[in-house]
Amino acid sequence: MRKPFIIANWKMNKNVHESVAFVKAIKEKLPTNKEIGIAAQAVSLYNMKEVAGNSNLQIIAQNASAELEGPYTGEISMRSLADAGVTYVMLGHLERRRLFNESNDAINQKVLAALQVGIIPIICTDEEMVQTEVNGKIHYVFQQLRSVLKGVPANKLSQVVISYEPSWAVGSSHQANPDVAEEGCQAIRQSLVEMYGNKIGDSIRILYGGSVNPDNIYKIMSKPNVDGALIGRASLDIESFLQMVNCVE
Ligand code: G3H
Repeated sequence: MRKPFIIANWKMNKNVHESVAFVKAIKEKLPTNKEIGIAAQAVSLYNMKEVAGNSNLQIIAQNASAELEGPYTGEISMRSLADAGVTYVMLGHLERRRLFNESNDAINQKVLAALQVGIIPIICTDEEMVQTEVNGKIHYVFQQLRSVLKGVPANKLSQVVISYEPSWAVGSSHQANPDVAEEGCQAIRQSLVEMYGNKIGDSIRILYGGSVNPDNIYKIMSKPNVDGALIGRASLDIESFLQMVNCVE
């Protein structure tokens, strides 16, 4: 049984005080039947964790270095994130790939570094899949998935979380389409099953991201292969976020 996971990705919004105030306001109001997390700017994470305490709120980093320590001015170490109480790190978000030229290889190194210090990677992928037909059967090849998961030990695979965010739906005025969300997540699952077998492929959580809001989240989350949502704009408002985390039983 895959536990639903709903994540606010605040991107480069909210300062430390605003982030802490948000956590204070919501931490007692979170349902326990799902995992809930907020990915915030690195400078806010420690204070957010202090306030979140043992509540059902995961504090998530939006990025980190593949190097654990050393002469890398301006970088953020996974080891320091773990020390600050961070449990998950988002890696390879579309904006990191597009705006900061992060390659699959670089993301793969970060995935391995995260697992080394016990932080769970939430690996973002987009619609770059190739659909082919083999012996009359539709076959999806996600080059991104193969590359970013290279070298991940089998016993760590089922912890990893994958998100599917079609680039045209991120930050756009398009309404997120539940069928498109299911199609992408289902194709990713099929690919994971082919790569690692049914047991692992069926246990990995796959989230959908791209224009999710209180009006469409219920239908998106009702799809069988969608295990959660990665929400940008609509997660910045407390009422809207609480409405979404309470959307499904
Ligand atoms: O990480 C979240 C995604 O980039 C989606 O952002 O909900 O503002 O479209 P959005």
